[in-house]
Amino acid sequence: MTILDRYNALKLKITERKKPFDRFITLLEDETTWLTSPASTRFHLAEEKGLLKHSVGVAESLLKFREFLAPSINEESCVIVGLFHDIGKLGVPGKPYYLPNDDAWVVKNRGINYKTNPEVIAMGLAVRSLYLISQYISLSEAEAQAIAYHDGQYIDDNKIIAHKEEPLTLLLHWADYWTAHIYEEGRYEQLNKLNLRREEVYKLIGGNYESC
Ligand SMILES: [Fe+2]
Ligand SMILES: [Fe+2]
Repeated sequence: MTILDRYNALKLKITERKKPFDRFITLLEDETTWLTSPASTRFHLAEEKGLLKHSVGVAESLLKFREFLAPSINEESCVIVGLFHDIGKLGVPGKPYYLPNDDAWVVKNRGINYKTNPEVIAMGLAVRSLYLISQYISLSEAEAQAIAYHDGQYIDDNKIIAHKEEPLTLLLHWADYWTAHIYEEGRYEQLNKLNLRREEVYKLIGGNYESC
């Protein structure tokens, strides 16, 4: 399944707010770099379609967590906050936040493929995400909290909601960091290899791996 197939499958889950969602998606696809933008200048999916890959991955992880931990949460909420939590990384229509790095030396020797656009007005990325989405889609309070504070307690200013997180905020934060650090950094494969090695050791010593 390609990234676009996965993205289109997520879009099909939107029913109640389909009209505003479609209007927002049309703006993103036609007037911003949504389908091509990297997710960072240097580290985290700093490549073409990086932001789309990350956003689709987070929405999919969030739907998995929802299924096992909180099936009463609306799937549509998960798709909207998962897909759009980092949309502030696009900048605003007409002013992309990430631009190709025009310093060939820095690209070649330091591997920094993109730079940020100084013309985009400075604000926290999650704040810009909320600014962009809420112009098109009316959000519940829980969805707004989840988007605005998705970095959890890694950000000092987020202390304001410490221990007051809605379930959707906790799930989005977890889905974001699980996707970025376990899937995107290739650690999921390592996890499987580690389990296989443990299984081999347990077989050798006659133990039961399954029950441990
Ligand atoms: Fe983020
Ligand atoms: Fe993210």
